[in-house]
Amino acid sequence: MRLLRLLCVFVLLPFAAAAHAQVITIKFSHVVAADTPKGKAAERFKQLAEAATKGRVKVELYPNSQLYRDGDELEALQRGAVQMVAPSVSKFGPLGVRDFEVFDLPYLLPDVESVHRVTDGDIGQKLFAKLDAKGIKGLAYWDNGFKQYSANRPLRKLADFRGMKLRVQSSKVLAASVRQLGGVPQVMAFSEVYTALQQGVVDGGENSVSNIYTQKMHEVQKHLTISDHGYLTYAVIVNRKFWEGLPADIRSALEGAMKDATRYERAIAAKDNADALALVRQAGTTEVYVLPEAERAEWKKALLPVQQEFEPVIGRELIQSVQAVAAQVQAERRKRQ
Ligand code: LMR
Repeated sequence: MRLLRLLCVFVLLPFAAAAHAQVITIKFSHVVAADTPKGKAAERFKQLAEAATKGRVKVELYPNSQLYRDGDELEALQRGAVQMVAPSVSKFGPLGVRDFEVFDLPYLLPDVESVHRVTDGDIGQKLFAKLDAKGIKGLAYWDNGFKQYSANRPLRKLADFRGMKLRVQSSKVLAASVRQLGGVPQVMAFSEVYTALQQGVVDGGENSVSNIYTQKMHEVQKHLTISDHGYLTYAVIVNRKFWEGLPADIRSALEGAMKDATRYERAIAAKDNADALALVRQAGTTEVYVLPEAERAEWKKALLPVQQEFEPVIGRELIQSVQAVAAQVQAERRKRQ
């Protein structure tokens, strides 16, 4: 009996303590600068997660495609080389999950409130469920902001797009939108865009102003059109096996940290984009053109066929349910005014 107690104290207990103290590492890789809404929120999540788990979890951040570029980061997540990433939802097509491309339909979501209503409701959850079979679990949707077109020539009238080579993310809807406008889409990883713009491999692209500014794209783009033709939304996702294998208390602490980081992210995103636009104007390298309402309506009309083209892929029901949410938000807004 005494021997057993000694065995417990000197042999088993230290092992149990060591196992308990083992630190769980979450490698969180992303492609944008640390000084963006996503970069800052990743940092906030790290702080909150490490504090909430009292050091039992360590979050390692790898911004700016340091570890993986678009596409590669999703594969790395699936094989467990990293545990967390936060890609734009426009990048799920190559995984075989096309439903998220609903977010890429031009002018479908007119404001951020509608985006949130979609992502935070049934639709957002159903879309996340589509990732399960890919070994991925969706934790949260994060904001960036509305996307704008930039190029070395003005892109104002629809005719200006003719023959323009424009970089897009890996979404068939985004490529079709450029084609619909008369341009030539070029799918390219985010990390390659600056050099491609600088060397004239592409003439321009579409992105949020915070991405344009933090990647210095404005230094190699003479024109920026504030067109707000689509919204750049992120999905914070984890390797499902890793997530489900976490001790329950750790998982719930991390869920809490993610909730708070998401609230923070959404609170700063719009301002970050507005600040970036002011800085682009201040830099003086890029002429900014705010598309007037009447011209925006023309763009919207010209892009409408993209929706019909992708209805069979994305599903009419999904498109209509997103439209219904957006219409509801508009109706509520009108009532408030
Ligand atoms: C892009 O590839 O342009 C963006 O999705 C990058 C990002 O993560 O914001």
